[in-house]
Amino acid sequence: METSAPKRRENKKSLRVKVISLGNAEVGKSCIIKRYCEKRFVPKYLATIGIDYGVTKVQVRDREIKVNIFDMAGHPFFYEVRNEFYKDSQGVLLVYDVGLRESFEALDSWLGEMKQEMGSQANMDSIVFVVCANKVDLIKRRVVDEGEGRLFAESRGFHYFETSAQSGEGINEMFQAFFSSITDMCENGGKRPVTELSVGFTKEQADTIRRIRNSKDSWDMLGVKPGATRIHQHRKTFDTREKLVRGE
Ligand code: GTP
Ligand code: MG
Repeated sequence: METSAPKRRENKKSLRVKVISLGNAEVGKSCIIKRYCEKRFVPKYLATIGIDYGVTKVQVRDREIKVNIFDMAGHPFFYEVRNEFYKDSQGVLLVYDVGLRESFEALDSWLGEMKQEMGSQANMDSIVFVVCANKVDLIKRRVVDEGEGRLFAESRGFHYFETSAQSGEGINEMFQAFFSSITDMCENGGKRPVTELSVGFTKEQADTIRRIRNSKDSWDMLGVKPGATRIHQHRKTFDTREKLVRGE
């Protein structure tokens, strides 16, 4: 008699991805990652020195994803450390503080710095970007509204999420969308999936967004390149825990 083991659906090969966080100092990059990986919030500001490194595992549909997180220091002083870590990223968290307009306006120069290090538009097109409008818990000091943030993100084909590392609002949803998109991109031969436009836009805004999306010049703004001393600090700071990302 033939004894065959019951047929099991094998998991697809696991993926290894690299993600980085970008944005001005103090906007909450490290806190967003800490909230997701360790489920806690530290109110005291501990500036990232150079780069913090962490690794976590997530499950997206039937695939295990090993995520290497490089949390960059936002201070200009650390440019020389950061610039080595842009290459080979599949995902970028672009963070600003909704209470500080200059942190929102700085997003283009962060993209400029990244593009300068990556070298070509093609490389930027195979990266999933998520814009995090952070510190939404601080309602009274908010100066950049949702419409503005969403327009910036969606006109560039990026995801947009309102987050609070303090309360946890939006954090899991943001990471789920982030990792799902990265997985889709990897399964699609490295082409970033097209993000849907949200319903809140007027026809004119939606048309403008489409026009900007189709323009090849939107990346051309270069960031300033401040001089800095070379300091390397590669610490492993995040807990390695299994995470479950629901497939959509
Ligand atoms: P650098 O490492 O210097 O680039 O800064 P960062 O962007 O990593 O900022 P960090 O995560 O260290 O947070 C800066 C400060 O903002 C800390 O005092 C945090 O407690 C605070 N913070 C971060 N996220 C939030 C948030 O969502 N709400 C509030 N109220 N405070 C936050
Ligand atoms: Mg930090």
